[in-house]
Amino acid sequence: MKKLFATVMVMSLTAALVGCGSSSSSEAAAPAESTDAAVEEEAVVEEESKGTLIMATNAEFPPYEYHEGDAIIGIDAEIAEAIATKLGYDFMIEDMLFDSIIPAVTSGKASFGMAGMTVTEERMQSVDFSDSYATGVQVVIVAEGSAITSVDDLFADDASYGIGVQTGTTGDLYATWDLEDAGLATIDRYNKGADAVQALIAGKLDCVIIDNEPAKEFVAATEGLAILDSEYAVEEYAIAFAKDSELTEEVNGALQELIADGTVAAIIDKYISAE
Ligand code: ARG
Repeated sequence: MKKLFATVMVMSLTAALVGCGSSSSSEAAAPAESTDAAVEEEAVVEEESKGTLIMATNAEFPPYEYHEGDAIIGIDAEIAEAIATKLGYDFMIEDMLFDSIIPAVTSGKASFGMAGMTVTEERMQSVDFSDSYATGVQVVIVAEGSAITSVDDLFADDASYGIGVQTGTTGDLYATWDLEDAGLATIDRYNKGADAVQALIAGKLDCVIIDNEPAKEFVAATEGLAILDSEYAVEEYAIAFAKDSELTEEVNGALQELIADGTVAAIIDKYISAE
């Protein structure tokens, strides 16, 4: 962040210099040299990046962010890159545990967190959020033929299911508060949603609570799994910033423009085929 600020400072100084150069060159007595200097300064301004936007994410969440070969791609990666390009920043992705994203943002190691991250009251205690750019639904994945046929079954008086979640996600938080704390379930927490799904396939769990889009991808890739029709929770995804960061308004402004001009919808369409 310090580096970013320094670069921005240099930028505005350079801009100020350009301003001086052109105003003096407009004076009749201004030597030709100073016009050249102004042109050179302008070229520098055009080439110079404002710095690097670092996006903290957890690339285990298709179609929002996932690995393809050496690259991390997906809806969030593309939207963030479009924002960086629009604003004149270089762009980088830092892959980490989902749990580490908010700490990376609040400590300034990352410029923002973008990870299909749900806006919650608790998270708003430590970060600021952009406008929402997508809706997510917490759904329940079961083995075909499971005794669990609706979300309500998880809340039955005598329920005692084994539930898999990705650590620190809203699926984890809800299952913990609603079910584990009420003595209705045992929660197994995994670093990757895909690992929870593997445990379900192996018969170690009764269900997995996870966001709908990765759920669809995981279920499509495996025989014998199904997503319950009933929804556990409907949520909004947004970009997380350090509290009172100067970036929030700038990035959110670019996001709003990319939503308004259809870029965000086009990126989402590219990764999620309309049903
Ligand atoms: N929407 C959920 C949440 O905010 C899950 C997000 C998980 N994202 C990821 N990239 N692994 O907790």
